[in-house]
Amino acid sequence: MFKTQIDMPEATRTKVIKVLNGRVADAVDLQTQMKQAHWNVKGPHFIGLHELFDKVYHAVEEYVDQIAERSIQLGGSVNATARDVAKNSKLREYPHDIADGVKHVEAVTTALATFGKEVRDSIDDTLKLGDADTSDLFTDISRDVDKWRWFVEAHIQAKG
Ligand SMILES: [Fe+2]
Repeated sequence: MFKTQIDMPEATRTKVIKVLNGRVADAVDLQTQMKQAHWNVKGPHFIGLHELFDKVYHAVEEYVDQIAERSIQLGGSVNATARDVAKNSKLREYPHDIADGVKHVEAVTTALATFGKEVRDSIDDTLKLGDADTSDLFTDISRDVDKWRWFVEAHIQAKG
């Protein structure tokens, strides 16, 4: 922990930073999974999915920065190299043996839903810890992730 004049007890900040850094790991993992989907998808809806997965990637890139920098603002530090992320992410590994658009839609939906759940849990966790600002950041991200999950999942929802 670094010294800071912020008006929040160190004990609170330590716990909030732990939550934040957990979501950094998830978000960096999600980023790489979106590129995996962007590159490997094939099939009749190729171009739409290829472009959509890249848009999600760029959105997630923003979340990574916002979450990581919140940790720093609270006096913490962030470790999010590929090795750190592989150890700490709550996401399931992205399937490597798929090409078909529907399979990628299912896999990306699962990744976004998992991340969405973790972020939603973090809204409550950080609010209970007394950090409404971090909770609000997670609320923003959560709403955005729900939108991306919808954009992707809608491809396989037509039959109800
Ligand atoms: Fe590309």
